[in-house]
Amino acid sequence: MSLSRVGRKEALKVQQHTYQTLLDVSKRVNWRIDDIIGGDKRLDFSKPFLPETFARTEALSFLSDRERLTLNHIRAHGYLAMFALVEGFILPFVNTAIAQDDGTPHRAPALQQFASEEEKHMELFRRFLSDFTASFGSECGFLGPPEAIRDAVLAHGEMAVAIATLGIEWMSQAHYVESVRDDGDLDPQFKSLLKHHWREESQHARLDGLLLKELAGKATPAQIERAIDEYFEIGAFLDGGLRSLAELDLDSFERATGRTLNADQRAEFLVVQHQALRWTFLGSAMRNKNFLAALGELGGSARARVEEASAMLC
Ligand SMILES: [Fe+2]
Ligand SMILES: [Fe+2]
Repeated sequence: MSLSRVGRKEALKVQQHTYQTLLDVSKRVNWRIDDIIGGDKRLDFSKPFLPETFARTEALSFLSDRERLTLNHIRAHGYLAMFALVEGFILPFVNTAIAQDDGTPHRAPALQQFASEEEKHMELFRRFLSDFTASFGSECGFLGPPEAIRDAVLAHGEMAVAIATLGIEWMSQAHYVESVRDDGDLDPQFKSLLKHHWREESQHARLDGLLLKELAGKATPAQIERAIDEYFEIGAFLDGGLRSLAELDLDSFERATGRTLNADQRAEFLVVQHQALRWTFLGSAMRNKNFLAALGELGGSARARVEEASAMLC
């Protein structure tokens, strides 16, 4: 095949991502919560839930193998709770976009499907959390209250929230494809959750891309730069939450294992785990090539600023 034919094929693939085709695909891949969890479909606590790239327990040399597995599970609890939390601000963002119907064919039903899937995902993450809590044996803390976090994010401009949402949606794609799908050590039930989420999020990421293009098409270059400023404000707010989450995870770890870490160990735990959380929820989004490509299309310094900032989040 000649290069020009490859180029035409790629161009066709891009064009295919319309509200209509994304709606068609989402109806085809749609699943029910009961397909994934319930009955004998349970978490297996003898296996890790999160890949080491996210959990980073091996860097903590003072932990035993058993304690590393416990910390992996605590981090997985935070992963479930974090997705339930962020979907809490993605849903009102999508509902706002639905209310701004501009008559584009298939836009409203595609976004309604998007919103109903996010509601279902929140319920799915809650079901996994209750399965986790029923079996883990001690309490794991998490950030909150969720309404206050949602409102703090949504206090920013719509384009900034669109950029943050797009990053999260592409991040969830990358988590499954790059870090989870081929990891044979992970619990199959936790992998199943990420696989099913990935299948529906794939359409969300592309719908977010269309929404961001709509917003950017009506904005001046200065407004786009301001949206990037606000995106960084959202990122800094979330990063403060991740620092608090590392402390909550340390408390959860000591509660679960009955072990009290000394001052040096606590300090090392917090540094390593804060950075692990930063990579999991911020860096892996800001380094995603599809997210960066969408930022590049905004023009100006959007892509360069995000790429530069991502260096400290690896
Ligand atoms: Fe979702
Ligand atoms: Fe989503």
